[in-house]
Parts: sequence; structure tokens; C-alpha cells
Amino acid sequence: MRQAVDIAPGVTMPLLGLGVFRIPPGRETEGAVGAALEAGYRHIDTAQAYGNEESVGRAIRASGLPRAEVFVTTKFDAARSDPVLELERSLERLGADHVDLYLVHTPRGGPRRAWSGMEAAFERGMTRSIGVSNFGVADLERLLPVAGVKPAVDQVQFSPFAYRRQLLEECRSQGIEVTAYSPLTHGEELDDPTVAEVAKRHGRTAAQVLLRWAIERAVAVIPKSAHRERIVENAAVFDFELTADDIVRLDALDRSGAAAIAVERPWWTLRGRLRRVSRTARRRLSAGQ
Ligand SMILES: NC(=O)c1ccc[n+]([C@@H]2O[C@H](COP(=O)([O-])OP(=O)(O)OC[C@H]3O[C@@H](n4cnc5c(N)ncnc54)[C@H](OP(=O)(O)O)[C@@H]3O)[C@@H](O)[C@H]2O)c1
Repeated sequence: MRQAVDIAPGVTMPLLGLGVFRIPPGRETEGAVGAALEAGYRHIDTAQAYGNEESVGRAIRASGLPRAEVFVTTKFDAARSDPVLELERSLERLGADHVDLYLVHTPRGGPRRAWSGMEAAFERGMTRSIGVSNFGVADLERLLPVAGVKPAVDQVQFSPFAYRRQLLEECRSQGIEVTAYSPLTHGEELDDPTVAEVAKRHGRTAAQVLLRWAIERAVAVIPKSAHRERIVENAAVFDFELTADDIVRLDALDRSGAAAIAVERPWWTLRGRLRRVSRTARRRLSAGQ
């Protein structure tokens, strides 16, 4: 079964990675990354904004695995100005001389703003490939005509509940690979009856079904967990296959309207932040808090 995808000349990205967003630096990140490497993960997804690159680097070194065997992604914090300078700082924190993939975290400030700096980081050999995150079709359409180096990857929110078909098709037609973030819907839809039924029939868990759904499209997944047993569970996705009927039923869960956008609530914009605040307030009100 296919376990990796070619994203750029000579660069292969494992389809399964561990995401470390919101895992505190120090013992927790080191424990999660260490558990993942032990369980066979060879891909770690961090970011400058996560504040845990140093712990990621320490855990990779402690694993004893050769650096070349672990695919490391980090992301340029688009609130900053210089992708080269910020990657130098990331490499220092990671204790590495390069990463495998460097993504523009968001199109904040415009989809073209960071790209020449990303290309400079690539040309200096600080990263083996460059890409984007949270870029929708409209952002890609603005970036691609001026990109000397094409983005290798677009990392977006993607799951059966956010099946961004238009965005996936556009990326595929441009030779850009998609990585699914929040592939487990932050854990919010793991008790969905359709997912539960498919999982039960295969003798699997809901999380495994959601991950498998993306992997069968050759979309990489980077589930986050801070718990060893879940990290192990999330890795057991290469020894079963969904049926065509399962896929049709899971595809029908989409609430994104086959979206061309990368995320419903762009948290890096004022509008996105306001929508997030009002959603939290609505939840608190309905919970009677
Ligand atoms: N590029 C971007 O802008 C962006 C945005 C968001 C996320 N990401 C990346 O994508 C990664 C994953 O996304 P995410 O963290 O938003 O959400 P996610 O992976 O969809 O879900 C994580 C949640 O699911 C729980 N979980 C994990 N495995 C489970 C299992 N087997 N059974 C039950 N619950 C399980 C985790 O809890 P425990 O930890 O308690 O186990 C956590 O609460 C991030 O860590 C980050 O690397 C990127």
C-alpha cells in the first residue's frame, strides 16, 4: 500500500505525519514525537507559531534515527517579514541544517507576499521543498503566475466533513500535493453515525476511518495526539481498505460545499477572529455558562 507521495524532484513525503499544534513544548512534545517515531511515523509537522520546534528537534535526535529518515515540516509565521531569517531561527531551534518542507502558514498580507523569501530559503538549501498552507484556489491563482519555484504542497483543513473537492482538483491539476490538517476534525465528529458504522464493519476506530479516507486519495494526514495509545492507533491505517461504497457515504458528509477555499474560519483575518469569538460565545450561551 502506498505510504508516501513525491512532492518535488527527489523529495518524498510520508502520507502519515504527527501534527504537534497545541502540544506544549518540553516533556509533552518530546514524549509525543518520541512515541510517534517509535510507532513508525517518519513525518513531523510543526510551525514557528507552535513554539515547540526545539522540543521536536530534541526528540528526533533522542530517537537515534538518522536525520534523513525523518521528514520535518515547519511553517513561516506570516505575521513576520522575512522567511529566510525566520527559517534560520527555526533551524537553530530544531538543531538541524535543513527542513524537508517549509510552508507559508497563511496567505496573511496577500498570497504573493512571502514567496520570493521562500524561494530564497529553498535556493540556499535551507529546505528541500517549499509550499503553502491555508491557500484557496483564488490564492493559488494569484501566486502561481509569479512563482519561479512552484509550491510543492498546500496544507489545508481537509476531512470527509470538509471535503474541499474544488481545491483538491485545482491542486492536482497544478501538480501540487495536498496535506490534510485537522484530519480528525479536532475530535469533534468521531461519533458521527456514518463514520461509526463504517468503522464497526471494518473492526477499526472512527479516527482510523477518517485518516484512511484521506490516505486513499494520496492526501497526507497529520493527526495530532499527545497520547501514546492514540498515536499508535492513528498509525494503523495502512493495513485495511475502504470499499467504494464506504467512500461514497463518507464523501457525502461534506459540509464545505466542495469548497475552493482552504478553511471556513480564516483566523489570521479580523473577520475570521470575530467569527471565532462569536462561535465560542454561542457555544457558551447554549451550554448555559
Ligand atoms: N496549517 C495550519 O494552519 C494548521 C491548522 C491546524 C492544524 N494544523 C496541523 O494539523 C495537525 C492536526 O490538526 P488538529 O490538531 O487541528 O486536529 P486533529 O488532528 O483533527 O484532532 C486532534 C484532536 O483529536 C484527538 N485525537 C487524536 N487521535 C485520536 C483518536 N485516535 N481518538 C480520539 N481522539 C483523538 C486529540 O486529542 P489528544 O491530543 O488529547 O489525544 C485532539 O484533541 C496539527 O497538530 C497541526 O500540525 C495545521
